[in-house]
Amino acid sequence: MRAYHRAMRTVADDLAVRWKEDPDVDVHGDMTAATLEIIGRAGFSTPMGLLGDNAAAPQGTGEFVAALSRVLAWASESTNDLPVIGPIRGVLAAPGIRRDVNYVRGFVDSIIERRRNDDADQNDDLLGLMLTTRDTETEELLPVENVRDQVLTFLAAGHETTAALLEVALYHLAADPSVGDLIVDEELSEATALDYDEVVRLRRVKALINECLRLCPPAPGFFRIARSDQELGGYRVPAGRAVFVLSLAAQRDPVVWGPDADEFRADRFLGKRLTASSPEFFAPWGTGPRSCIGRQFAIHETTLLIASLLSKYRLTMDKPVELRLRERATLRPEPFRIVATPRGRTR
Ligand code: HEM
Repeated sequence: MRAYHRAMRTVADDLAVRWKEDPDVDVHGDMTAATLEIIGRAGFSTPMGLLGDNAAAPQGTGEFVAALSRVLAWASESTNDLPVIGPIRGVLAAPGIRRDVNYVRGFVDSIIERRRNDDADQNDDLLGLMLTTRDTETEELLPVENVRDQVLTFLAAGHETTAALLEVALYHLAADPSVGDLIVDEELSEATALDYDEVVRLRRVKALINECLRLCPPAPGFFRIARSDQELGGYRVPAGRAVFVLSLAAQRDPVVWGPDADEFRADRFLGKRLTASSPEFFAPWGTGPRSCIGRQFAIHETTLLIASLLSKYRLTMDKPVELRLRERATLRPEPFRIVATPRGRTR
């Protein structure tokens, strides 16, 4: 994570500049841009041209981002499709989606090609590691098509979820600015450089992030398949049957989280250490060997972005809006705006 910190930091700085120029913030747009930029810059040393200086972005980046977002929206929507309507919609959308998928693949192929031709020795980012690390048993490199699919998985799995989490956090910070004031007073006045070690120590920001993950887990659940016949909560689950674990519900269960389980409390997780034996179920990253591989990446980037923006800006809303969640493949807030006022001017 240390290696990614610098690239993440450049995105936080670019975002702060954007907010200075335009304090009326489109949270959805900016968090999408920031999270894609972070994966592009930190994972693949490739700026996406969505924030800051666009000059270094590869040609066609704008179209790549648009095509990727259409493919993800299509994939998300089709998970909720009704039996008859779904296939019809699929057929109608197929040519456009196929074109988008091809474009997205071609774009990533060109990034990989450039790396293999021009910077073949660079292995200090995810792309370099995937291209240069050999299998410990076979000594073989990962096939290039596999590397391309891994890059796309990281882009897809890593940006929408993280953007959703950041949006929920920014919502709560703007809905009640005293939450941010407390974090700034207690934690950020000391952490001036926001270097890697400082970010790791930001307990209040991390507690806030956990509370957002508890109430609005961007991945609202995960599937597990029973290996053997089981009984679960009074139900018989035969071997081979899939079960959807709805973290969204379990993480709001008043029996274990208390009567205020549905309420946002920024300090709920402060000093709290949940273990496997804790009665509270908290699994926004899933569980076991297939749990989220990007967890530390997401925690570091969200902590850094929130801390960096909070230390510079006091966040408010022009008029209070309700936090409305849109349920697709991820649980993501409906777009909303906040106002970012430089701290020096408010306090
Ligand atoms: C707030 C942000 C994120 C949340 C809430 C989240 C949540 C999840 C969850 C619940 C799973 C399924 C785990 C399971 O079945 O037990 C998952 C899997 C995965 N996530 Fe994340 N994720 C986030 C960010 C990221 C990031 C930033 C990346 C990559 C940079 C990423 C890459 C992946 C991948 C590759 C998998 C599949 C892992 C596997 O099947 O072995 N995620 N994530």
